Formats: sequence, structure tokens, C-alpha cells
Amino acid sequence: AKEPVRVLVTGAAGQIGYALVPMIARGVMLGPDQPVILHMLDIPPAAEALNGVKMELVDAAFPLLKGVVATTDVVEACTGVNVAVMVGGFPRKEGMERKDVMSKNVSIYKSQASALEKHAAANCKVLVVANPANTNALILKEFAPSIPEKNITCLTRLDHNRALGQISERLSIQVSDVKNVIIWGNHSSSQYPDVNHATVKTPAGEKPVRELVKDDEWLNAEFITTVQQRGAAIIKARKLSSALSAASSACDHIRDWVLGTPEGTWVSMGVYSDGSYNVPAGLIYSFPVTCQNGEWKIVQGLSIDEFSRKKLDLTADELSEEKALAYSCLS
Ligand code: NAI
Repeated sequence: AKEPVRVLVTGAAGQIGYALVPMIARGVMLGPDQPVILHMLDIPPAAEALNGVKMELVDAAFPLLKGVVATTDVVEACTGVNVAVMVGGFPRKEGMERKDVMSKNVSIYKSQASALEKHAAANCKVLVVANPANTNALILKEFAPSIPEKNITCLTRLDHNRALGQISERLSIQVSDVKNVIIWGNHSSSQYPDVNHATVKTPAGEKPVRELVKDDEWLNAEFITTVQQRGAAIIKARKLSSALSAASSACDHIRDWVLGTPEGTWVSMGVYSDGSYNVPAGLIYSFPVTCQNGEWKIVQGLSIDEFSRKKLDLTADELSEEKALAYSCLS
């Protein structure tokens, strides 16, 4: 039998946490034959609720779940973890300045970076979900210098999946027949959902999305804004932000990273930029990636037209600004 993998979920008493931990315990993230030990971290005001989640995990009698650590102690939470899904953070409240929210999250990610660096298993893979996701991941990377930068990522898979969903709805086809959309840049409304290389499986072979949709006006405007604004639309409808789709996408992100992407398919991940596609190095930026043997690689050589170029740059500019704001909070 396989050794259990230790998976940390921070903010585990929150909405995404509540949707995510049962998925992990059922094998959705790491596969149906991989035992897991869940480490759940939250802050003291949520300790009682966190314990309630632990009780439910016991009650659900998941065969793959070999142990649960529920704690408000960062060191205990991080010790020995192989995968860390960082969902905890400080939410923007009404009337708060952007800088104040950034400052709270910078201090959270700085201290959790140190705990992971000192106590996580070697080669721990980190996924930051909490917003501002890209910049939180960047802070985590800066303050955990011994964790390889390739191990620190942020979630844009939800945006990627939303883009697949919109195309499948538009064409009235199965979402599993659509692939290779791209989310470029920030997990914010400046992101660029790009369908220029996306394809659909049809009885007559693979066809470009552009050829099937036949409506460039929709693809260049409404499609993009729908994906960019989907988070706000969910809040409006549910009075709560997306949780089940965020949790499911976090599982997709880790599963593909660990187990690999299918041949001919790429996914979107927020990763440390090496300057590919003239995106400034040193930002955590969402790129198209393929994964193999537990490592991601940015897909190279895709053509970028003038329309796309502007959008890649715009979201990069926003991330550079966020980075500067985050650094100003450190001093
Ligand atoms: P939530 O407010 O329900 O849960 C957040 C949890 O984090 C709470 O239980 C809170 O006590 C905990 N927390 C706060 N500070 C913490 C700390 N220092 N250490 C550990 N836990 C801490 O929020 P929800 O809906 O679960 O969302 C979580 C985060 O995910 C938010 O920042 C949200 O903006 C972000 N998000 C990101 C998405 C993405 O695609 N990247 C999609 C949806 C949400």
C-alpha cells in the first residue's frame, strides 16, 4: 500500500475549505488509490468551527483518510506536509483600503512561508488560493527561499475551467471536448482568457474554437468579460463567493501537477515567470503549462497577436503594481 501523503489546507474552516477537504479525503486531488492525512489550519476565532469540520470528516468514514490534524498552530499545521493548499487569508471588507488588505495578507504569507520552509517535507508543492493569489504566492516565495521557486504556484485553474465552461455552453457541447484555452496573468478581472489556440473534439477531428464559434465579436468581448467577471456574478447570485468550483479547480490543479497533463493538453497555472512571452521575470503570472513527473513547464512558441499582446501586458502591469504595493507593506 502507498504511504499517506500529508496535505495542508489553511483557512480550512472557511467556505472553500468546507468544500475542499472532503474532495481531498475522497481521492479527487491525488487519486483513488492514494491515502492522505489532512492537516487543517485556521485562526483561533474559527477553532471551534474547525473542530466541527474534523468531526464531520470522522463521521464521513473516508477509507483513504488516514488521519486529521486540526490546529491553530502554524508549525504543527506545516510539519511534514507534502502538499500545501493556502486558502486562508484576510478578506477585503467594506470601506477597507487596498493597501490595508494587502498589508494583512503580506504579513500572513510572510509568516506562513517561514513555517513551511522550516517544517514542510522536502519538495513540498504549494498552491495559493487566497486573494490576491498571485501576489500572496510571490510573498510566500520570497520568504521561503529554500523552497524551489518551481514549487510555488497560485490558482487560476478556476478561471481556466470557467472559460472551458463558457465555450461548451455556447456551442452546446460537452465541456470535456474543449481544451487548451489559456488564462494569462493575474487572478483578477485584468486576466486575459485567450481562446486563440483552443480546440474542440468533433466527429470530424479537432477544430479550432474560433472556427466553430464563428462569432469573433462574442469571443473578443462578451466571452472575455464573462470569464473575468464570473466571480462577481457568483457572489451576486449566491450572496457568497464561489466555493465548490474553487475547491474542485484546486483539486484539478494539484492532480495535473502531480500526476501529469494528458498528451496534447495544457492547463493554466500561476507560476514564477522566467520571462517567457516577454512577461516580466519575477512575477507570479498565469501561463499555459504542461506537467510531467511532478513538474510544470510553460508551453512555448504560441503565436500572440496584437490584441492578445496588449492584454498580456495590461495584466502584467497590474501584477507589477501589486508587487510594488506588497513590498511597500514590508517596510
Ligand atoms: P472564507 O472567509 O469563508 O474562509 C477563509 C478562512 O481563512 C476563514 O475560516 C478564516 O478564519 C481563515 N483565515 C484567516 N486568516 C488566516 C490565517 N492567517 N491562517 C489560517 N487561516 C486563516 O473565504 P473563502 O470563500 O473560503 O475564500 C478563501 C480565499 O480564497 C479568499 O481569499 C478568496 O478571495 C479566495 N478565492 C480564490 C479563488 C481563486 O480562484 N484563486 C476563487 C475563490 C476564492
